[in-house]
Amino acid sequence: MYAYTPPPLCEKLNAILAQVQNLQPLPTSIHQILRALNKPETTAKELANLLATDQALTAHTLHAANSAFLGYSSPCSSLIEAVMRLGFNQLRSVVFTGLALNPLSRRLVGYGLGAGALWEHSVATAQYARKIAQVLHYAELEEAYIAGLLHDMGKLFLDQFVLEDYHQIVQLMKEKQISVWQAEEVMFGIDHARLGGLVAKKWDLPSKFVEAIQYHHLPSFAWRYKELGAIVNIANSFTPKDSTSLAGLDGRLPNPIAMEILQLDPYGLDRLWGSKRESKCHSRRNVHPYSPTDRSAG
Ligand SMILES: [Fe+2]
Ligand SMILES: [Fe+2]
Repeated sequence: MYAYTPPPLCEKLNAILAQVQNLQPLPTSIHQILRALNKPETTAKELANLLATDQALTAHTLHAANSAFLGYSSPCSSLIEAVMRLGFNQLRSVVFTGLALNPLSRRLVGYGLGAGALWEHSVATAQYARKIAQVLHYAELEEAYIAGLLHDMGKLFLDQFVLEDYHQIVQLMKEKQISVWQAEEVMFGIDHARLGGLVAKKWDLPSKFVEAIQYHHLPSFAWRYKELGAIVNIANSFTPKDSTSLAGLDGRLPNPIAMEILQLDPYGLDRLWGSKRESKCHSRRNVHPYSPTDRSAG
């Protein structure tokens, strides 16, 4: 009897996708908090009660509310006050930052990223995304921040496969003059952006985040949220390159289509590069998204 043997590419792709399928859903408490944040009638007390069910999130919220960036002179020790100081939009970013901190701080051996390096890149991208959104008068600054923060989370699920095929990936990138994500697509049939989009979908995140993550390298392919994907694409290109990482081999230039989507001409990009120079110091390791250095990032 004929036994079907899947080709190696298919086997790898199945193993990669199985990780997403087997992923635990986001805790119910997080969904409750995110739902509450979307309802204008939610009170600060209700939100504080929901946040109090998660210890790490409580600490994170208080830390963010005490950040000098917010400009309060007296410390804040109650969750209700923290919620009021931050406001719903910033609180949404704080919740996502709390969720992403541990996983994104992991060491990714395949990508050549030491502990904290992906976190550093993610926060820097998020801060640039918020700044770009501000300069371009994009309505939702915190949306841009969150999309920037989560854009590369697919790398967490691809790292072990990149490690196994590291030399072939590097060779492919050099020979074909392609980026990491394109080499991933060739090697595995999926890249970290699409994989990240699947993770966001599995976690029931709003479709704007699913699209911005999935298409952060190809924003024109997004169905509805091309602008958000384009903002993340340009923000990603602003972050400093670490020559020891796989991404360091990459040009990491903004996709010209992202510029077109945002109607940015070279002069407009210059304005953004100006913002980059102002906020050069933002990609410090472990930088808190609401630290005083965030002031110039706006
Ligand atoms: Fe990426
Ligand atoms: Fe990135």
